[in-house]
Amino acid sequence: LFDYIKRKNVRAKLKKVETGLIDNVEDSFPFIRDMAVHIFGGGGKRIRPAFMILITDLLDYKGEDDVKAAIATEFIHTATLVHDDIIDRAVSRRNRRTINSIWDENVSILFGDYIYAKAIEMMNSLNNHRLNTAFSRLTLGMIKGEILESDKNYQIDITYDEYYNIISKKTGELFAGTGSAAAILGGLNEEEEEIFNDAGMKIGIAFQIIDDLFDFIGNESVLGKPVFSDLIEGKITLPALYLRDSDEQGRSIVESIISEKGFKKVSEKQLEEALQERDIPARVKNESEKLIREGLDMFKIQPVLSESLDLEKLVEYIINRNM
Ligand code: IPE
Ligand code: IPE
Ligand code: MG
Ligand code: MG
Repeated sequence: LFDYIKRKNVRAKLKKVETGLIDNVEDSFPFIRDMAVHIFGGGGKRIRPAFMILITDLLDYKGEDDVKAAIATEFIHTATLVHDDIIDRAVSRRNRRTINSIWDENVSILFGDYIYAKAIEMMNSLNNHRLNTAFSRLTLGMIKGEILESDKNYQIDITYDEYYNIISKKTGELFAGTGSAAAILGGLNEEEEEIFNDAGMKIGIAFQIIDDLFDFIGNESVLGKPVFSDLIEGKITLPALYLRDSDEQGRSIVESIISEKGFKKVSEKQLEEALQERDIPARVKNESEKLIREGLDMFKIQPVLSESLDLEKLVEYIINRNM
């Protein structure tokens, strides 16, 4: 984890985030603690905390509030994963069983709510109105995104705009808010904060596009979660959109899988080959890379960020990761 970050201060703070994730639910009763240890102890890339703390450090922020804000972002992320796995009836996450496959579903929903509420408590403790505004905006955005996605499930004619709208909300908003929060703590003004917000948004969208690609070409044991599940669940993501619009055969492959809710007429291998034949994985990566570059350029309004090798490495990791 964090091999791509060389700055010592950032690494030290990320360690604090790691212990803070568990310590901040310590006061809870054992039941909640067990679930928290299960989900937080199962790894996870901690990319949002890394993103936040790298930026605050580059902006020469000297306090400790960024550690708390980073924990809050990871809490929100985790809450959405817990809920997302319930919605998807997923059984594995981070190479462990999901909360909902071990505990009762109702309790899992409440645990997700609990982690959300913890994030709010954490943010509130920082007594910073601008931070609270950024966090309420991003939380609402994410939930809207998940609702919108459900609404578009199994609609084969979903448009590119609709797809981008969904992912900009469900994933982009959290990265955007992370950029905002880092800007606020780093002492930037509102205009600069907005640019950081938008830069985070681009990077978040790029991040989700790669996640969507992994659902088709990723390695299940490395990813720690199921593959080939988005289409079965009716989620038509960028690789599927490209395949749908490639030619008649491509469209019929997508149609079969979503209408049969599984791989019957078309096998997983055929799907993968169809994508490769049309060079779709490379095209999807290019799209993600383009967004990453745009985001990175926006951060360059602050020269310290444009010269940072660590930031460069972090965004490269988003594209070149395998999990
Ligand atoms: C998975 O997020 C869900 C998405 C928003 C794509 P991550 O890939 O950051 O999951 P973890 O935290 O590393 O497990
Ligand atoms: C991410 O989307 C979920 C949220 C942002 C809430 P996915 O559904 O693609 O996440 P995974 O693939 O299950 O991790
Ligand atoms: Mg999911
Ligand atoms: Mg996914």
